[in-house]
Amino acid sequence: MEKQRENWGSRIGFVLAAAGSAVGLGNIWRFPYLTGENGGSAFILIYLVFVIFIGISVMIAEFSLGRNTGLAAVGAIKTYSDRWTFVGIMGVLSAFLIMGFYPVVGGWALAYIVESFTGLLTETPEAIEDTFVGFITGSFQPVIWMLVFLVLNIVIVAKGIKGGIEKAAKVLMPTLFILLIFIAIRSLTLEGAGAGIEFIFRPDFSEVTGATFLAALGQAFFSLSLGMGAMITYGSYLSKKETLAGNAVIVTALDVGVALLAGIAMFPALFAFGMEPAQGPGLVFVVIPIVFSQMGGIGVLFGIIFFIALAVAALTSSVSLMEVVVAYLIDQRGMLRKKAVYGTGIVMAIMGVLASLSMGVIGPMPVLQVGVFDLFDILSDKIFLGLGGMFIAIITGWVVNKETLRAELTNDGTIEFKLFEVWHFLIKWIIPPAVAIVAVVGIFDIEQTAVMILGLVVVGLLAVFSRKLN
Ligand code: PHE
Repeated sequence: MEKQRENWGSRIGFVLAAAGSAVGLGNIWRFPYLTGENGGSAFILIYLVFVIFIGISVMIAEFSLGRNTGLAAVGAIKTYSDRWTFVGIMGVLSAFLIMGFYPVVGGWALAYIVESFTGLLTETPEAIEDTFVGFITGSFQPVIWMLVFLVLNIVIVAKGIKGGIEKAAKVLMPTLFILLIFIAIRSLTLEGAGAGIEFIFRPDFSEVTGATFLAALGQAFFSLSLGMGAMITYGSYLSKKETLAGNAVIVTALDVGVALLAGIAMFPALFAFGMEPAQGPGLVFVVIPIVFSQMGGIGVLFGIIFFIALAVAALTSSVSLMEVVVAYLIDQRGMLRKKAVYGTGIVMAIMGVLASLSMGVIGPMPVLQVGVFDLFDILSDKIFLGLGGMFIAIITGWVVNKETLRAELTNDGTIEFKLFEVWHFLIKWIIPPAVAIVAVVGIFDIEQTAVMILGLVVVGLLAVFSRKLN
């Protein structure tokens, strides 16, 4: 076990870094459009239930495993049991899958910083919509922006995640928060905003299906950065003095807060402009520019700040994804940081190019019937993260010694964790079957059956051959 591990600069540094990992495109880009596609408030309610009863507990578990072992995902799990190491490997694979499409959207955010001051925000709503579709289906531009985003990741992760990222997060996360509050107020006061408020606050369960539950669970894990070891890795840098459970609650609250705020910022405006809620992935890139375009000159300034903040939020998340892979290569494969980062970066660049082009020139794949972008997205979010979270719960509840966990969560008995028994019960008895049920129900309900089967086969192979991977 490594004893001299580098720690976060301060408590607030850790909270911001972990919240930085959690708060990202998942909250501002993904949450609103999933809500729009899944019928609004019923989806939000299910998502909140999953966050409270599953998400927080899994986050506490991940922090505990990371800090207890002082190792990143794979090494941490291996410390407890060779049999379960594949869960760490699954996490590394999830990081690759997510980093296969995340930088594409990160690149869109970067591009929109430039678009904001080159006239996008003076256009009509229709033109703003057309611009987005035209942009993402193009070949050259989105690929370049994706690569720029990826290079930023490479530079930050090559330096080690502390320093730079902690500083950037300290300034830009609060900026983003304030900006979202401002946009929400603006959006709520638009004429015709009422329908949007109803859409997100009045539950209508008539359209809820198994697929809705699976989408909500996937979103809960994705948004909280759970199920693939990012929080194990971050926890491994956490000092022995911190309260793990307390930090988990704070990070979750911030994450959910930003997601809800993003919803409140977007839906009233969307309805006020008479647009369809099921916009898909373009939602934030269309609605927000339209809101700003109606404000005149100052709107341009807000647009620029908003997309800078969005890009930084994306960056503080994507570096945590890349760090999972890099920490694995350093801790388990003995690679030097720089080499690990460059190698990882090249693979991610290739994946990103394919994902970006799948929005335009290369269409859906045969058999699987989805494009590369969607393939990475569905595999990670609907299969790997959920099952990963389930396995992490099983490892924590059934493999790790309960008293070790109690000591870890109470800092060797020096602080109280009153809900320890409740947490342990949830992790051991409730969360594994709950996730399994949602996964099974979802699989039978989802349209992309071929992708689901592919994902399950990969997980199965990993589980069976895991010993050979060690
Ligand atoms: N939570 C991040 C977001 O919402 C994405 C992420 C997922 C980051 C998993 C790390 C691990 O954008």
